[in-house]
Parts: sequence; C-alpha cells; structure tokens
Amino acid sequence: MDRQSIDLDWERQRAWVEIDRAALRHNVRQIQALLAPATKIMAVVKADAYGHGAIEVARTLVAAGVEWLAVATVPEGIELRSAGIVAPILVFGAIDTEIQIRAIVQWDLQPTIYTIAQATIISKTIAQLVPSTPLKVHLKLDTGMSRLGANWQEAVAVYREVDSLPLMAIDSLYSHLATADDLDPTVMELQIDRFERASAAIKAAGYTLPILHLANSAGILVGKRLHYQLVRPGLILYGLYPAPQFESAIDLRPVLSVKARITQVRDITAGTGVSYGYRFIADRDCQIAVAEIGYADGVPRRLTDRMQAIVRGQLVPQIGTITMDRMMLDVTQIPDLQVGEVVTILGADGTSQIGADDWAKELGTISWEILCGFKPRLPRISTN
Ligand SMILES: Cc1ncc(COP(=O)(O)O)c(C=O)c1O
Repeated sequence: MDRQSIDLDWERQRAWVEIDRAALRHNVRQIQALLAPATKIMAVVKADAYGHGAIEVARTLVAAGVEWLAVATVPEGIELRSAGIVAPILVFGAIDTEIQIRAIVQWDLQPTIYTIAQATIISKTIAQLVPSTPLKVHLKLDTGMSRLGANWQEAVAVYREVDSLPLMAIDSLYSHLATADDLDPTVMELQIDRFERASAAIKAAGYTLPILHLANSAGILVGKRLHYQLVRPGLILYGLYPAPQFESAIDLRPVLSVKARITQVRDITAGTGVSYGYRFIADRDCQIAVAEIGYADGVPRRLTDRMQAIVRGQLVPQIGTITMDRMMLDVTQIPDLQVGEVVTILGADGTSQIGADDWAKELGTISWEILCGFKPRLPRISTN
C-alpha cells in the first residue's frame, strides 16, 4: 500500500485535523454582511491557511464568493496556482531575488512593493522576461507597524517612482494595522490618519488612486470606515475572535478541530506513575486512555497537565507528560470506553468545547499561533 492510501484511510487514522467547510462558508457570509456591496474580500490564506490546509480552504472561499487571496511567500502562491486556483493572489512577503521574481511572473502572482530599490530590481528582472501585460503590484506603506513597507511620509515619491517603472502597474495601495484589537484606539486612529493623508497626497499629485486596503480581522470589526475597497481577513475567516470585545460584532464558527483515536484503555492503581518523568502519579485507582497525538503533531508539550480533551461529549483531564506521538487521559468517569473511539483534542463534541483561545490563554500566546502550530503529519480532512 502506498503512502497516500494510508493517509486517505482516515477512518483509521491515529489523529487528524478536521476542517468544517460549512463553518468557513458561514464566516464568509458573516463578513460579507458587514461590508458595503462594492467592498471585496482578500482572504488571507498564508501559512497553509493558518494551518487549515490552503488548497481546500482557498477553493471553498473562492466558491463562496471571495475574490482575492493573499499568501506570505511565493511557494505558497505556487501551491495554490498548481491546484488550479485562478483568483488574483497577492504575496505579502519580501520579494527581491531573481528566482522569486521569475516565479511571480510565471505563476501569475502579484508582489508587494516596499522600497524603490526593490521595485527597481523587480522592474529590471521582468524586463528580461518581456511579460505580455504589465505586472500588477501592490504598494505597501508603513503607517506605524514598523514592519515591511515604504514610509508613509514618502508615499508620493515612492508612488511616482514605481509608477514610472516600465512593465509595472500599481493595483493597490495598502498598509497594516498594529493595534486594531486594542481597546485603546489611539494608535489605530493615527495609522488611519496617516494612510488617509498618504493616499490624499498621491491623489493630489495627479494620480487616480488604485484599490485601497487597510483592515485585518480586527480592523474589519472596528467598522466600515476601515473597509475601503478591499478587506483582508485572516483569523475571523477561521472562526476566531481577534479580541473579546468583538464577540458581539459578528457570529463566527470555528472551522478547525483536532481529533485522535484512543488506542489503549487501561486500569491503573493508586501510586502508579504515568509517562516520562512521572509528573503524574495516580492518587487513586483510575482508568486511563492513550490518545494517539503528541507534540510532534503540534500539541504543545507545555500543555502537559494543563489541558483537557473531550471523550463522548465529556471533558476529561490530560495526565502525565505529553509525549512526541501520544498522550494519556484520565477517563475514569467514562465506563466501557473502547479502543478506536475518537477524542476531540480541540473543537466541540456535544455541549463541551475546547477552543484555540483556551490553549492560547493557558500558554500565554495568541490563537493565531495555536492554529499555525498543527503539523503536516496530521492530515486535513474536510467535512460538509
Ligand atoms: C498584511 C496582512 N494583512 C492581513 C492579515 C490578516 O490578519 P488577521 O488574521 O488578524 O485578520 C495579516 C496577517 O498577519 C497580514 O500580515
């Protein structure tokens, strides 16, 4: 049997990530409902669609009416194109080598421009390729994130220079918000003001403004004022809230769940140690289950003794050190538990649920990092 047939045999998989396409479509509809009819969505599907599986997610999003996609790197864009996805794809990340630029043209991707020097390299390289149409590029301004982007104060000069380069057409002007999820709007307002001033200056210099875009998930939920012609949701597409204050602004459904099989059920007596280092020693007789998922699948080892799982709709505690490929659960409360039953590691079962936000809180990180942490070893299985 080949590798693929084993992967596809998911009924017997040890562990997997389940992607609820109906939830993804629901989230798209919820975002669309917040937007003016002319405002389009650029779905952020970088980092393998935040760990959800970029190809399947992009296909579902495009079918749901999403018109643009964004990735971080050229290989991420090539992956989507190779899968037959034809929607325009913006690459957020730095592009300045000949190989990257050739791939951009070959695979019909659209680069971010952030300095005149970089734009010049791109222009020179594409001149050798003689593309049939000008390359669409997206000028990114830094308005306060202090990351990739041209200084907003130099917007007109950079715009003029890039506009004058042969074989390049500026398709959009964008920036990225650093604090849209903060309760204090001061920095965000400053960034909006800088973005508006920069675009007004470009207009005043005689240019017709291209597409403007600024809003990430939090920016979208702040309000229409930030939507312009295009919005760039990431996290909310996947059904999570960028911050608690947005919970009343939109009804989201988590798209991803993580499941594993129980591969052994055993009774242990009081005093028995469990897993490496005996961090757990039973203080009573109990029934434990082995679940086939570990830190090599993306369940952080630091969650040892700090996480729960759901078995038959009931929350059960994880016990003993999480190992590379499996972990143990205290399932004393569940009678007749059988080998082969499914454990929900993240997600919902019955009325119980465990969210990426719960893990993030426990670990002192953000849900974005939790979602991106699930390893390719876990097959992504789409439902609905
Ligand atoms: C430029 C840019 N726009 C939009 C997003 C989407 O952000 P979020 O997941 O907060 O919606 C990202 C993600 O990091 C980004 O880098």
